[in-house]
Amino acid sequence: MNGQTSARLFVRPALVAVALLLGGCAWDGPMSTVAGRSDFAREILHVYGIITWVAAIIALLVFVVLAWVLLRFRDRPDAPLPPQTRGHTLLELSWTIAPAFVLLVIAIPTIQVIFRTQAAPAPGALEVLVRGRQWWWEFRYPALDVVTANELHLPAGRQVALSLEGPDVIHSFWVPQLGGKRDVVPGRLNRLTLTPETPGEYWGQCAEFCGVAHAFMGMRVVVEPPDAWERWVAAQRATPGEPAGAAAEGKAIFASRACVGCHTIRGVSAGVLGPDLTTFGGRKMLGAAFLPNTPENVAAWVKDAGAMKPGVKMPALGLSDGEARAVAAYLGSLK
Ligand code: CUA
Repeated sequence: MNGQTSARLFVRPALVAVALLLGGCAWDGPMSTVAGRSDFAREILHVYGIITWVAAIIALLVFVVLAWVLLRFRDRPDAPLPPQTRGHTLLELSWTIAPAFVLLVIAIPTIQVIFRTQAAPAPGALEVLVRGRQWWWEFRYPALDVVTANELHLPAGRQVALSLEGPDVIHSFWVPQLGGKRDVVPGRLNRLTLTPETPGEYWGQCAEFCGVAHAFMGMRVVVEPPDAWERWVAAQRATPGEPAGAAAEGKAIFASRACVGCHTIRGVSAGVLGPDLTTFGGRKMLGAAFLPNTPENVAAWVKDAGAMKPGVKMPALGLSDGEARAVAAYLGSLK
């Protein structure tokens, strides 16, 4: 093989692979698993750190010994067959005990963390019911009478007790910086308890293949200082005021079309198949956190959501461009 062929066959693909691998690296990216921002995420990171260091040290030892053996005992012309070792009790005991010891070193902190993170929530914990749906997230705060979709707001420093369930297929709730994952299984109530520590915006993603729009089943978690969160709760509980202008026209269209069969807007409709839209205008993202919530995107969405998100359950309602813009103005006014 000449130099040019080996470059084509090995070197270039290897360079591309390394570039792709490193291109995916970011210590503090929005979906980073190594930048814990909750007690739960830090606990997992603690175990992950132990395993990584133990594995790195063992790998280093193995490579050094391997390199030494390869050099020291390499084949030479006319070299005799080296002495063969069989039934060496000390050797066999040591390579049985050493892996068991490594497993023990990993098992002890892992089991400790499992018990710590599975403990019952504290009495003052905030209860949130998470429902994974095809293909969006519903968040209910039963004690506060608040329902929202795809955007979970939590107060920093207060423990939150999530109960997860779903009416259709298995999903998985995963917000890497807050810890996870936890499966959302029909007919079963799973729990996840954590305390978000740092105010900020965190991104999550369904982590269990759940159908055609699985990749578009994202969510946004907003962790706020307690007073800002209280204001958010108050805004969620208020009944939207009467809209004016194009938004009033949009409300009339919304109220007279199939929209009302699937969506709840407090004081207007009571559908439960799609996301509750009572405070839709206050959300940053649209369509389970994959599109910015702008009037243009919302108008295109209500006209034909399936063209933007394959598999989406919302049908095209045959709205004209003007009607779609009016509905977008109405939805945008709901804050
Ligand atoms: Cu829901 Cu994947």
